[in-house]
Amino acid sequence: MAPSTPAHVKLFIPGPTEVRPEVLQAMTRPMIGHRGRDFEDLFARLQPRLRQVFATASRVYISTSSGTGLWEAASRNCVRDGRAVLHLVNGAFSERWAQVSVTNGKRVVRLEAPWGQAIRPEQVADVLAADHFDAVALVHNETSTGVINPLPQVAAVVHRHPDTLLLVDAVSSLGGAPVEVDAWGLDVCLTSSQKCLALPPGLSFAAVSDRALARAQEVPYRGYYFDFLELEKMLARNHTPATPAIPLLYALDLQLDRILAEGLAARFARHADLAARVQAWAAERFALFAEESYRSPTLTTVANTRQINVDALNAFLRERGMLISNGYGKLKGETFRIAHMGDLTRDEVEELLSALDEFLQP
Ligand SMILES: Cc1ncc(COP(=O)(O)O)c(C=O)c1O
Repeated sequence: MAPSTPAHVKLFIPGPTEVRPEVLQAMTRPMIGHRGRDFEDLFARLQPRLRQVFATASRVYISTSSGTGLWEAASRNCVRDGRAVLHLVNGAFSERWAQVSVTNGKRVVRLEAPWGQAIRPEQVADVLAADHFDAVALVHNETSTGVINPLPQVAAVVHRHPDTLLLVDAVSSLGGAPVEVDAWGLDVCLTSSQKCLALPPGLSFAAVSDRALARAQEVPYRGYYFDFLELEKMLARNHTPATPAIPLLYALDLQLDRILAEGLAARFARHADLAARVQAWAAERFALFAEESYRSPTLTTVANTRQINVDALNAFLRERGMLISNGYGKLKGETFRIAHMGDLTRDEVEELLSALDEFLQP
C-alpha cells in the first residue's frame, strides 16, 4: 500500500512556517471595508505593537506583498539617480536583492563574502572609505547559508558616513532574533510575515526612518505601490494606498498579541535554545555549513557530509507529518536546512530530530 501523507505536514522549512490554528481561524472573520471606521481602528491598533516588535518609535509600513516587494521599495526610494548602492552579498538572498536594485535601474556595487561566511565590518569600512554610496544593503540572516551577519557592527561602520542609509533585510530574523531598529540606527528594516512572525505569507513590514523619507523626497520616480511617501501619507490616516489583505491583518492582530504575551526576550531565548539543540545534533552527525560565531538562531544549514538523499529523507519525514528544506540554489543536495523559527516548540523540534535519527539508522 502506498504510504499516505498526514493531513497536516508540520513545516520545519524557512518559510512559510507553522501558523497556529487560532491564528488561521482569525482569518475567517467577515470582511470590512478598508475605507471605514472598523478598518481604521484595526490599522491603528496594529501600529504600536508593530513598533514594539521592531524596537522603533517611528513608523512601520504594512505591505500586501511578500518581502520581495519591500526590497524593491527600499532600493527604489533610498537610492538617487546616478548614485550607487553597496550590496553586501554572502548568499542567494543578498545576491537576489542586488539583482532587484539592478532591475530598478540603480548602480550596484557588490562586496562579497564566501557563502557560509559572515560579512566583515572592516571590509565594509574599507569600501565606504573609498567611494560614496547612497545606501548599504545587508541581509541580516542569510536563509540560504544559515549565517547571521554582525548587523550592529556593520551599522556602526555605515554610520561614520552620515549621507549613507542602511537598508536591512530582516526577513528571516525579525521576531526570532534581536533586531533593534532605533538603537542600531537602521533606516529601512523589512521583513515578511511567513517567517519568524509565524503568520501566513502575503504581508510584509518595513520600519522606515525619517532620513529614509527625506531621501525619498529626492527620488523623483519611486513607483506607486511601494512609494514610501504615499505609504506615509496614508498611514497618518490609518489607511493603505490600495486594498489590503484584510484577512491577513486579522491574523496579524491576534499574532502580535501572542508574540508580545510570550515576550520578545523569551521568544529570542526560545529560538536560541532550539538553534543550540539543532546545531549540536547536526555537528554530531554531519557538519555545520555556517562558520562558527555567526550561526543563525532561526535556521540551521547542515553540510550533507554523509551524502544522504535529501528528497528521500523528506519523503520519509512527510509520511510522519513533517518537512524540512533542501539546500538553496547551488547548495541543493550539498546541504539541507532545518528551520527552527516562528512558534515552534522544543517538543516539536525533538520529534523532528527523533524522526531524522530514525532515517539515519543503518
Ligand atoms: C533573507 C530573505 N530575504 C528575502 C526573501 C524573499 O522574501 P519573500 O519570499 O517574502 O518575498 C527571503 C525568502 O525566503 C529570505 O529568506
